Amino acid sequence: LDDGQALVPPMGLNTWNAFGANISEAVVKEMADLMESLGLVAAGYRYLVLDDGWSDPERTQDGRLQADRQRFPSGKRPACLPNSIKALSGYLAGKGLLLGVYSDSGGFTCQGFPGSRGHEAEDARSFADWGVSLLKYDNCYTHDDLLERFVAMRDALNATGRPILYQLCEWGIGDPWLWGPRVAHTWRTTFDIHSSWASVMQNLDESIGLARYAGPGHWNDLDLLEVGTFGPQPNGWEGVHGASLGPEPGGAWQWATPPRVRGQYLSEKEERAHFALWAILKSPLFIAADLRRMAASSLAILRSKEVIAINQDPLGVPGDLIWKSGPKEIYAASLSGGGRAVVLHNRHSILSHLQAANITVRWAQLGYAPEERAAVRDLYRQQDLGMHAGSFTAEVRLHDVAVLRITPQDPQP
Ligand code: GLA
Repeated sequence: LDDGQALVPPMGLNTWNAFGANISEAVVKEMADLMESLGLVAAGYRYLVLDDGWSDPERTQDGRLQADRQRFPSGKRPACLPNSIKALSGYLAGKGLLLGVYSDSGGFTCQGFPGSRGHEAEDARSFADWGVSLLKYDNCYTHDDLLERFVAMRDALNATGRPILYQLCEWGIGDPWLWGPRVAHTWRTTFDIHSSWASVMQNLDESIGLARYAGPGHWNDLDLLEVGTFGPQPNGWEGVHGASLGPEPGGAWQWATPPRVRGQYLSEKEERAHFALWAILKSPLFIAADLRRMAASSLAILRSKEVIAINQDPLGVPGDLIWKSGPKEIYAASLSGGGRAVVLHNRHSILSHLQAANITVRWAQLGYAPEERAAVRDLYRQQDLGMHAGSFTAEVRLHDVAVLRITPQDPQP
């Protein structure tokens, strides 16, 4: 949407993959505290999004959404306090965070809580009253009127006068990149991600070639970051780590639990590759991990200042795949100031899986003259790699990346 919001991709944390519908005020506050103390707020993660499961199964007598009163107790007393969500947005504001909530464009959310269909105006009003700054809007229990439903909530949000970032969750259905820029700030390019390399690569592949549809105010969303996420959570929630089998007609959402095989969760190299690829394609960057139990290496990846800077570059030009040969891939994006962000990616294939690969990016592939001298910098290591003419070659290990910034001496815009 062209309303001055989301000029760069939004960044934050979403509760879904770590907590499922078992979210509570206590856990959300804990995540907010950790986002602050672990330096994630300072790194640019601004939104904390309550995904499915925050609401009470029933609306109030006058038809309003309300939070689950057991799990979000702040709203319980005094009874006139309309909703604990308002108290929560105030708490988050004190941490430098903005609150996001989830609803659904159908009659129910995917977990069977009340959806906003037919209630768009009053729900948008509630969100604005509660100090909500982002709405993730899902696609369960719907009919064939996808565009009308999403437009109805866009208009309802707009009518509140409060800036609320509008994040569509239509699972890539209906070529959303074609109409999404007029309807929302972000749209999903794929179905749900889960904690495996295959899932990450699938979402990547389904998003190739879509860069040209995105830009400031309208972004392709490749779904949550599987950095620091892993298997079943201690609270018993299995997490959404399986492929979805889709909603049964009139019934519950069905999930297939994948076999827990070696390699199911991402290695450190894979997390690094995943994060860099999401960053250069200019996907929203939403952490999905439980911050209480995250490896130090995952945290370091999520805080990688110069990789985040690619994603948040003010020029707002998404990168895309520019070259591929077997398992070797090159992604590039133009940056403000005339430089280029480049990700050299070594992808698994049967022939290459034992070796690291040398991957060469040539200046001609970036739109630079071959004789041009350019500074090369490694953005994860935050190291200058010197001046180079014509090309640069890096050795990239299996399922790993080299993330570079290439800046010509005399940059042409
Ligand atoms: C759908 C969405 C997910 C998540 C769940 C919640 O599957 O695609 O991102 O919001 O619903 O139920």
